[in-house]
Amino acid sequence: MRKEIRFYRRGRRIAKSDFAPDATLLDYLRLEERATGTKEGCAEGDCGACTVVLRRLREGRVTYEPVNSCIMLLGQADGAEIITVEDLADGELHPVQQAMVEHHGSQCGFCTPGFVMALFALYHSEARNMDRPRVVKAISGNLCRCTGYRPIVQAGLDACSGKPNDRFTQNEKETAKLLSVFEEHDNIFVGEQDRFFAAPGSVDALAKLYAEHPDAILVSGATDVGLWITKELHELPKVIWLGRVAGLDRIEDSGRELRIGATARVEDAAPALASIDPDLGELIRRFAGWQVRNAATIGGNIANGSPIGDTPPALIALGAQLELQQGDKVRSIPLEDFFLDYKKQDRAPGEFVRAVSVPKLRDGEHFRCFKLSKRYEQDISAVMGAIKLRLDGRQIADARIAFGGMAATPKRAKATEARLKGLSVVDENAAAAALAALSEDFTPLTDMRASAEYRMEAARALVAKAIMEIADTPGVATRVFGARSDAHAAA
Ligand SMILES: Cc1cc2nc3c(=O)[nH]c(=O)nc-3n(C[C@H](O)[C@H](O)[C@H](O)COP(=O)(O)OP(=O)(O)OC[C@H]3O[C@@H](n4cnc5c(N)ncnc54)[C@H](O)[C@@H]3O)c2cc1C
Ligand code: FES
Ligand code: FES
Repeated sequence: MRKEIRFYRRGRRIAKSDFAPDATLLDYLRLEERATGTKEGCAEGDCGACTVVLRRLREGRVTYEPVNSCIMLLGQADGAEIITVEDLADGELHPVQQAMVEHHGSQCGFCTPGFVMALFALYHSEARNMDRPRVVKAISGNLCRCTGYRPIVQAGLDACSGKPNDRFTQNEKETAKLLSVFEEHDNIFVGEQDRFFAAPGSVDALAKLYAEHPDAILVSGATDVGLWITKELHELPKVIWLGRVAGLDRIEDSGRELRIGATARVEDAAPALASIDPDLGELIRRFAGWQVRNAATIGGNIANGSPIGDTPPALIALGAQLELQQGDKVRSIPLEDFFLDYKKQDRAPGEFVRAVSVPKLRDGEHFRCFKLSKRYEQDISAVMGAIKLRLDGRQIADARIAFGGMAATPKRAKATEARLKGLSVVDENAAAAALAALSEDFTPLTDMRASAEYRMEAARALVAKAIMEIADTPGVATRVFGARSDAHAAA
């Protein structure tokens, strides 16, 4: 049992045991280290001013992961090297900083450290042929209120094209060696029985610890939990971080289905999900911003039970099964059965989400999913619709439809599914009439994201659009970005 967390900082190995279980990484940097280059703007993961980069060793490769330090727990930095904006210049400005100067990418400067760190991560990403969509994707989690984005995008295009060559690249081999020392999967427990930060190293250790402390808060990426601390001012005396549990982040592809481990990060699950259908790739591209996707997990997106989480409706429509574990008991349920009521899930004390299994599309099956939100990136859905149809010729042999934003939970549209069965996809009138059943399935609410009327109208339009696309109706344009494959390629 390890009684401290360990990370690298400015060439030094730091071991810490004197920290609160719910201390954020940003508070550690600004209040303890006095590394105040990293800013606090929104304190809720929205603006990117607090972006830092974590260098980690993943499958033998050194990765550069931009994250929002405001909603990340200090304990989650275990095993990483923390790089902040002060660390980039080394006698002279880093190429990313120099490009920001040359393109006038900063005015008041408050957002600048965050943009620089996101671009620094892009500079070290594997993407070499830099283009505008890639730069935009990299800074989709950063807001600037005065400069405007054009000069910042230009700086990204200039600095991040070509092979990286800075002192971080030069010391990568040495860094890999240093980080490999952190690779063991021992259990971490810092604190006392009634107040601790713990990070089990195996599923068994997690099951045992959670059974002993069913009142502890499980933390995966902390992109929800972080806001309980910064916005709701909750104190979390007992924290179990899942990020070190060996194998819990594994993504397995059996050919017929994907099994996605609970702690697989949204960013890492994107290619596997996109391989089922390009719409899933596009959905993930629009999931929050790069920093959040680097921390947020698929398990967290399901376990939080949000009625407006993006992946549950899509996974329900695909027929996903959820795997849960309590002690040494493992059970598997259809994902839709997990969501009982508003923020009430079918999860016993001490039980945790282990994985979700997602069947791939079979012959004759067609899938579409659409996210409607006010902003294109970094925004929560007003309505999220997912539709799977199995066709027999032109006839709908089976339908699975699920929505987010339409009820207190992600929910299937069973009346509509039943009405669509047996109809022809080319019989637009019959399909339109069947969609009236959506008002039997849902009674949406009006809130700041959308009115009830808008939600109902939009839901009907999304199913109609899916049917039109699946029927391949000639001459009907349904996408702003053109064909589905184009939309995906733009990601
Ligand atoms: C700026 C911003 C933008 C966002 N945009 C989107 C978006 O576009 N789409 C979207 O769907 N969501 C969005 N979110 C919400 C959030 O990022 C996601 O829900 C994310 O997937 C949560 O995962 P996490 O690993 O960070 O969960 P955490 O915050 O670690 O945990 C969330 C909840 O799940 C529980 N939990 C976590 N893992 C497990 C487990 N294995 N078993 C049991 N319980 C568990 C925790 O105890 C907690 O109650 C956004 C959040 C922010 C801050
Ligand atoms: S301060 Fe705004 S994202 Fe962290
Ligand atoms: S330079 Fe002022 S907010 Fe971006």
